[in-house]
Amino acid sequence: MNNEITYLGTIIRVDSSTIEIEITDQIPSSAPIINGRVYKIGQIGTFVKMPIGNISIYGIVSSVSNTPSKSDDSSIKQIIGSRFLTVQLVGEKIGDRDFEKGIGTYPTINDEVHLVTEKDLFEIYGQKDANSIEIGKHSSSENLAVFVDIHKLILRHCAILGSTGSGKSNTTVSILKAILDDYNGSRVILVDPHGEYASAFPDAKVFKINDADNPLVIPFWLMNFDELAYFLVGAKPADDAKPDYRKFRELITDLKRENHDKLKSGNVEKNSVTADSPIPFNVRKVWHEINWWLNATFSESTRDKQTSTTVQLAKDAEDNIINGNFDNLIPAEFVPYSMGTSAPYKSKHQDYYSYEKKILSRIKDSRFDFLFNPGDYKDENSKKDLHNLLNDWIGSNEKLTILDLSGVPFEVLDITIGLITRFIYDSMFWGRFEEYTGKKRPLLLAYEEAHTYLNKNDNNSYSKKAVERIFKEGRKFGVGAMVITQRPSEISETILAQVGTLIALRLTNSSDQGIVKSTAPDNLNSLIDLLPSLRIGEAVIVGESIKIPSRVRLKLNNPRPSSEDPKLVEEWSKTFEQNDENYKSVVKKIREQKI
Ligand SMILES: Nc1ncnc2c1ncn2[C@@H]1O[C@H](COP(=O)(O)OP(=O)(O)O)[C@@H](O)[C@H]1O
Ligand SMILES: [Mg+2]
Repeated sequence: MNNEITYLGTIIRVDSSTIEIEITDQIPSSAPIINGRVYKIGQIGTFVKMPIGNISIYGIVSSVSNTPSKSDDSSIKQIIGSRFLTVQLVGEKIGDRDFEKGIGTYPTINDEVHLVTEKDLFEIYGQKDANSIEIGKHSSSENLAVFVDIHKLILRHCAILGSTGSGKSNTTVSILKAILDDYNGSRVILVDPHGEYASAFPDAKVFKINDADNPLVIPFWLMNFDELAYFLVGAKPADDAKPDYRKFRELITDLKRENHDKLKSGNVEKNSVTADSPIPFNVRKVWHEINWWLNATFSESTRDKQTSTTVQLAKDAEDNIINGNFDNLIPAEFVPYSMGTSAPYKSKHQDYYSYEKKILSRIKDSRFDFLFNPGDYKDENSKKDLHNLLNDWIGSNEKLTILDLSGVPFEVLDITIGLITRFIYDSMFWGRFEEYTGKKRPLLLAYEEAHTYLNKNDNNSYSKKAVERIFKEGRKFGVGAMVITQRPSEISETILAQVGTLIALRLTNSSDQGIVKSTAPDNLNSLIDLLPSLRIGEAVIVGESIKIPSRVRLKLNNPRPSSEDPKLVEEWSKTFEQNDENYKSVVKKIREQKI
């Protein structure tokens, strides 16, 4: 009989990395006190260790029973006073070396099993070093800091999961703060659909629609042609055979080509420009041109011959043909077509009619100004070009950029996040050999409320396509990603499959738990089973960046992210007087679409 106070019992079954332990009936208490600390034997999620020579093998308790798990012999099941623990082996420590995940030496029947003390845990988690950030404290001990490997956390990607109110946003703040505090050259972009993070990061650079200092703009000309055709005129690539779609493509290509030598970020070869190139042009010119085709009058009657060369430009001054003004959305005017069979003939390009109307309404809709009227990035004559945008977003001294998307209409949220993601990814891909970006200065992109736009059932999602690419290939070019969501079961499976570190807070929905289980390494289901019972701000962390799967408490940060919720009780406790002037300004705003 082993008299050590940590002695638990012996191994009675080994089944690959699952072992079963019979707890000795000599144990004086189920809650021994070691160095003043109470240890509870057989708690799910706690650790045990098996010393074999100079190796200590570590495992996590996954189930507890008063009968052995695999026995047909009912007499054994009757053993009274015995208890059995099922344990998943997770790692080993050889001599004085650091703890490592994975098992090289397996224990066998009758090997001794011991409690893991706080001292053992200190040895496992080690000290903070340049490669790690502190993520929180171990749930079993306020003194025990848990570190994660920052390289693996970021570049192998991570996910923060948990039901509403479980503490995801606070966890996000904790992690980002630790990164920003510890690493001067770090850089992070936080995609913040509800605009809740600015309050937690007073030093961050925050871009927001209509903000006086840092207005958020996403120039529409970042869209490739299919995206632009869809958002401007509702056309799909399947329309490619239609003359109006082809005309539209030609027009966009021409407008972009024309500007190849007017680029503030540096001119490009004309022939390299396609309808998909991110080259500025004036969207109002598109409308003006299409309007022109629609309303021009021609000297020829057939559509084929009604090209720009046969148009009746000012025959004489009295014809009073004016070119209009694209910037002010004034259409060109033409000699009216004649009613008879002689020239000038009416335009046969009436198929442009719907494009013309749609483009005009898009341009005039102020909700879309951040895309189609993007301030300093409006067109080729504007002050700024894409290098300014990149310097603002990922090259600034603030290290953290928050893209507050709270003012983005829901119908364009997906394309907006898609454009942001693709543009940043492209800048890292094509900048991979530069000294100041790409692999030389990795970048973290964090996506809050990810289930709203990375939905696995949405096959047409622009953002999903772009974010999946980062999860699959970003690491090679220095781009890491973090998704934050309350509905992991709705998230793209490609994304979840590439998540290296899972930070799972309290999660009550069973289909969400199922997803976390299937995403977490196989033998850790018992830890995941704890999810519904975690406390607020408590997380189970598993995966590549953490030394040993752990239950961790995060600290509550101050200042906090601001919650979206109105203060219902406070507001409903007031009294309100009716005033017939009320709602006037609301209606005006609905009509003008301006806050
Ligand atoms: N680590 C923590 N410790 C204590 N309370 C916390 C912690 N994390 C969050 N909370 C509390 O829970 C509330 C919700 O947290 P939040 O991070 O907004 O959750 P979620 O983003 O998952 O909805 C916070 O306002 C805070 O009061
Ligand atoms: Mg939140």
